[in-house]
Amino acid sequence: MSKRHLILILCLLTVGISTLLTWSRNTKDEALNANEGKVEYIIGVSQANMREKWRVALVEELEKEIQGYDNIRIITTDATSSVEKQKLDISHLMGFGIDLLIISPCDEKEMTEKIKEVYDSNIPVIVMDRAIEGFDYTLYIGPDNTVIGQQAGNYIAAMFDGKPGKVLELQGNNLPIQSEERSIGFASVMDAHPEIERSVLKLQNESKDSAYDAVLAAGEELKEVDAIFAHSDYIALGAYEALKNRGLENTIAIVGSDGFKEEDEGIDLVQSGRIEATISCPIGAREAIEYAMDILKNETGVPKQVILRSYTITQKNVENYLDKMNATYEDSGRKIVVGYSQVGQESQWRLANTNSIQTAADIFNIRLLLEDANQSQERQIEAIRGFIREGVDVIVVSPVVETGWDEVLREAKAAGIPVVMSDRNVTQEDIEEDLITTYIGADFKEEGRRAMRWIRDNVEPDKKQMKILQLQGNKGASPTEERQEGFEEVLKECPEYKIVYSDHGNFTFEGGQKIVREYLNQYKWDIDIIYAHNDDMALGAIEELKKHGIKPGEDVKIVSVDATKAAFLAMIEGELNCAVECNPVFGNQLMKAVRDLVSGKPMPFKIITEEKIYDESVAEDMIKLREY
Ligand code: AHR
Repeated sequence: MSKRHLILILCLLTVGISTLLTWSRNTKDEALNANEGKVEYIIGVSQANMREKWRVALVEELEKEIQGYDNIRIITTDATSSVEKQKLDISHLMGFGIDLLIISPCDEKEMTEKIKEVYDSNIPVIVMDRAIEGFDYTLYIGPDNTVIGQQAGNYIAAMFDGKPGKVLELQGNNLPIQSEERSIGFASVMDAHPEIERSVLKLQNESKDSAYDAVLAAGEELKEVDAIFAHSDYIALGAYEALKNRGLENTIAIVGSDGFKEEDEGIDLVQSGRIEATISCPIGAREAIEYAMDILKNETGVPKQVILRSYTITQKNVENYLDKMNATYEDSGRKIVVGYSQVGQESQWRLANTNSIQTAADIFNIRLLLEDANQSQERQIEAIRGFIREGVDVIVVSPVVETGWDEVLREAKAAGIPVVMSDRNVTQEDIEEDLITTYIGADFKEEGRRAMRWIRDNVEPDKKQMKILQLQGNKGASPTEERQEGFEEVLKECPEYKIVYSDHGNFTFEGGQKIVREYLNQYKWDIDIIYAHNDDMALGAIEELKKHGIKPGEDVKIVSVDATKAAFLAMIEGELNCAVECNPVFGNQLMKAVRDLVSGKPMPFKIITEEKIYDESVAEDMIKLREY
């Protein structure tokens, strides 16, 4: 048995014993009475295992974070990678009377039901690291592994600088989803660089030894390789040592991922020059404890998902990165000024969104300078320049289209004014430029997937191929592009359905009407399903169909996105069959982020709002609760 294995076993035993001791010694009352009776909340932490570095680090960081709070106590359990043990651990934690659960699941699918059980029993649940399907949890916090892969790809592509070369990707297989996502992100960048030849080596497991053996075994082939993307810093270290053994350590550049600070971890490897760069995989303990407190205190502004930001750490920027991570922050208490460029007033959703942001600005005592762009990118750019001249504290933009923003965003950056994207996002030429501080809004791709999943599960094909008419939003807007992408992702798996006609209705009632009218002018009505990118277009289509004697909801099934009051009304009438929610009421989350940003807190990559999916069966109940 190797020394490393022995240490691992000792660690496991220690954690197991300490967990048992915690159980036997404590009752909830004892825990609450601890610390001179100041403890108000007990947080249960169910960790999947205490073997993987990342997971051990999460527990350690959570412990460190709560040092700043007298009123929290945490109890940690180690599921030793067993789903059954994790379920049991959670039952114990619930029996103990925890006030909130933080879970890093062993397996996101198999733990979904248990997490739902906790959530249904009114114990808030924060899921970390791996997202579960559905909505039955309070908040998810985790990294975006696809972006991590893209960042590695961008760094390596910049290193090659257009010259031909070879890159070797070393994949671990302990966390298949994580590895798959990193690989997808990396490949997406490499695909855009045909001059770089990419080959992949799947390792036996995610360990330094496994990487060492595999790289050494690659033999002569290595001489052709210019760079390695290692899916973790352990793999990077194993690869480095194998290269050193072959005398190639100075000719092949390595990019790893994780970015821990200890000896032989990513930061140390970068600082010592053993690897070129590491892409940080953030842990999120600080965010977990801060949001846990907000949830326990019933604060407003808690989102559904927080996607953490990863950084490309190189020798050049490592000191800056460490300073940024160690920075302290405080709320200055002064009145914050926000310049806000809203896209327009095209839909019911938009009006509710503007209203939510204005109301929240008042609640948070923030001065809001609102500019309505009336769907014009030029007007938005002009407004942003105006905000820069005014010297506002933060600029918030809901951009009409995804592209064409880099120049004006650089101007804001040069003026030292952070920019937050609200509701819609933009694509940047180079993500490392950090032109956007964070994005707050929906997961449009997921909305598209949900729409198609609903069709697949509820609209039984009565012929060989069901025809879908798609009503798209504005061309080039992120909800349009991503709702289509997500929808098509699920559609690909369902050959019985096909999109036969698509057109842009620009998210307006008239736009939806016009598309149906034009279709009917050209063809005999043969559509089985309408997929509308928003309610307003679906409602316009419904009106037009009725004029032509086609019964919406019956002759043609209709699914739309937004789930406004008008959509529920249409569902009650039986004219709309399903509405996928896109939540416009995130003003509080936005203003909370603005306040945090001004006080110097590091921002997550994305803050995603809570959204559900509704059909006719719940419309009567839901309409009573809908304000917009
Ligand atoms: O960006 C969000 C979309 O914009 C909404 O779904 C739509 O109704 C809107 O106008």
